[in-house]
Amino acid sequence: MNIALLPGDGIGPEVIDQAVKVVKAIGQKFGHKITFKEAIVGAAAIDATGEPYPDATHEIAAASDAVLFGAIGDPKYDNDPKAKVRPEQGLLLMRQKLGLFANVRPTFTFPSLVHKSPLKLDRVDGVDFVFFRELTGGIYFGEPRGRNEQGTKAFDTNVYSKHEIVRLARMGFEAAQKRRKLLTCVDKANVMATSRLWRETVQELAPEYPDVKVEYEFVDAVAMRLIQWPKAYDVLITENLFGDILTDEASVISGSMGLMPSASLGTSIKLFEPIHGSYPQAAGKDIANPLATVLSAAMMFDYAFDLKEESKMISDVVNQSLEEGYVTEDIADGGKSYKTSEVGDWLAAKILA
Ligand code: IPM
Ligand code: MN
Repeated sequence: MNIALLPGDGIGPEVIDQAVKVVKAIGQKFGHKITFKEAIVGAAAIDATGEPYPDATHEIAAASDAVLFGAIGDPKYDNDPKAKVRPEQGLLLMRQKLGLFANVRPTFTFPSLVHKSPLKLDRVDGVDFVFFRELTGGIYFGEPRGRNEQGTKAFDTNVYSKHEIVRLARMGFEAAQKRRKLLTCVDKANVMATSRLWRETVQELAPEYPDVKVEYEFVDAVAMRLIQWPKAYDVLITENLFGDILTDEASVISGSMGLMPSASLGTSIKLFEPIHGSYPQAAGKDIANPLATVLSAAMMFDYAFDLKEESKMISDVVNQSLEEGYVTEDIADGGKSYKTSEVGDWLAAKILA
């Protein structure tokens, strides 16, 4: 297994280091030969080369069997709307060039952490749903985009082709078949032409998956019901922008935002990354929670290598660290807490024990 490591910015490098310890331990335990190649992306890459996603990085990622990605973003760009290159462009380019058209973002609960949810316990206990967000189309990439000559008007274009909807929707249907067999198509078909194409396309596909119940819901209603009764959902499919917004909402429901992993899937390469961002305030302090990245490595063994036992062993040791309180300060509840690197060492040791 050739794994490309793209630590990126902020706490990215620290949390990736811990995932590498865990992946190495799994390799040793199960007798897999795993090699790593590291490359730069984001602000780190702009500083070094002027480009947020250099060709050399793309070559390493494209030649790998899976990519482990940390985070992207740096405050020095956030308040400068005129910056010519931005770290986020690196992420968008990477998704586009690697053909990562589906972003899989699960929300599930950890019994030892549900009390941290902003929602009442009966709403959140046992929540288990997954978003399939379209990732390489829609308003993020549509042309034309820009300003009029005077600079007084700005525009973005939302555009979807049928085939982009079909391939994303099929992933959602197939996931639903393996889960609770409920698929929710999230759109704004009462207003937007793109959404009407989404709905029509999903309606056409539905008869091919007779065991899956399909629901169609407007995005504003989903934003509401997601916090009112998140247990209503199983698999949700949606376009790029709606998915960006709703998956941030979803990531805090379980009370474990620092723990939520994600996978980006496509035509060949698969990429795995924590949902949290680059958290620049914590960078270099050895305090960031590495569990989301470690759980992303668990998703990697499952989705990229179809190695369920390896994947489960990682989730199990993460659960154990939560139960035994061997965690970073953000989830220690004022109790004893451990450094990022100590948590990584502990997880690796548990795997090898
Ligand atoms: C995400 C992020 C990115 C997005 C940004 C950093 C471009 O918010 O992965 O959700 O909007 O897709
Ligand atoms: Mn986002």
